[in-house]
Amino acid sequence: MKRKVLVTRRPPEHVLAQLQNEFEVDFWDSEEEQIPRNTLLEKMNDVDGILCLITEEINEEVLDKGNRLKVISNLAVGYNNIDVQAASAKGIMVTNTPGVLTETTADLTFALLLATARRLVEASQVLREGKWKTWSPMFLTGMDVHSSTLGIIGLGEIGAAVARRAKGFGMNILYYNRSRKHAIEQELGVKYVEKEELLRKSDFVCILTPLTKETKNLITKKELNLMKKTAILINTSRGGIVNEQDLVEALENGEIWGAGLDVFEQEPVPVDHRLLKFPNVVTTPHIGSASINTRIKMWELAAKNLTAALKGEIPPNLVNK
Ligand code: DGY
Repeated sequence: MKRKVLVTRRPPEHVLAQLQNEFEVDFWDSEEEQIPRNTLLEKMNDVDGILCLITEEINEEVLDKGNRLKVISNLAVGYNNIDVQAASAKGIMVTNTPGVLTETTADLTFALLLATARRLVEASQVLREGKWKTWSPMFLTGMDVHSSTLGIIGLGEIGAAVARRAKGFGMNILYYNRSRKHAIEQELGVKYVEKEELLRKSDFVCILTPLTKETKNLITKKELNLMKKTAILINTSRGGIVNEQDLVEALENGEIWGAGLDVFEQEPVPVDHRLLKFPNVVTTPHIGSASINTRIKMWELAAKNLTAALKGEIPPNLVNK
């Protein structure tokens, strides 16, 4: 008898066909709508594996219903939506999709950095609203990216990919990480500094560390106050790492110059959120890995992890320790 898996969104045709070859597949047949919580809970009792998205919180409530559950395959590199400790305690494997999204997420991070520094969204808006009167020397002037200092908090794969891009722009690169990355220091000439020094010296601070208990609220009022008044904060990792209330205040008080945000504490971010009101804050709806090729590769890798785990193999991207 085929094992049963639940996929919490509609997968691409070829991935679905691949999964159907191996398993009895139940999937939530929508691209844009999230599986309702009750439906997810109801479906858990007879599935051997689940392929889920960051929109599903896989906590004890879900795990308790999954009597037969062997694997949770997340369609993301980040897995803060899953209680990995609770899953491990029940012998359930957890997997993610690293690697395939590294360059695409680094592209978006750099795009946000450039867009914020050079006020691209604001400039486009001004033009469309007919407010472009004449060429003026200081009209829509922004910050230089070339030759500036970039501080990367979290020098993992994506952090290193951002550093490579920054090198091409002639930026001076600092980083702060749990552990030193000697190979990347050698390759790119990036310099390790303590968090406080990074915040004080950087013109751009990029948050690229995963959200964990340790990194929650890593950036609060205190850290924002250390930053230059001309500095820009970029976050393409997870919302909870930056305290949004403190960020709003820092922007209101001119403690920092601007921010580029792809992620928020609550997603979708409420449309009346104060962060969406600043002209010097560029916001995108969690699209870091959103290129067509990369999203397809993420689906393929998530399916591969799920399949390997249910065949009794060690999946390529197991995250349980
Ligand atoms: C990830 O992979 O963690 C992204 O944030 C979702 O695309």
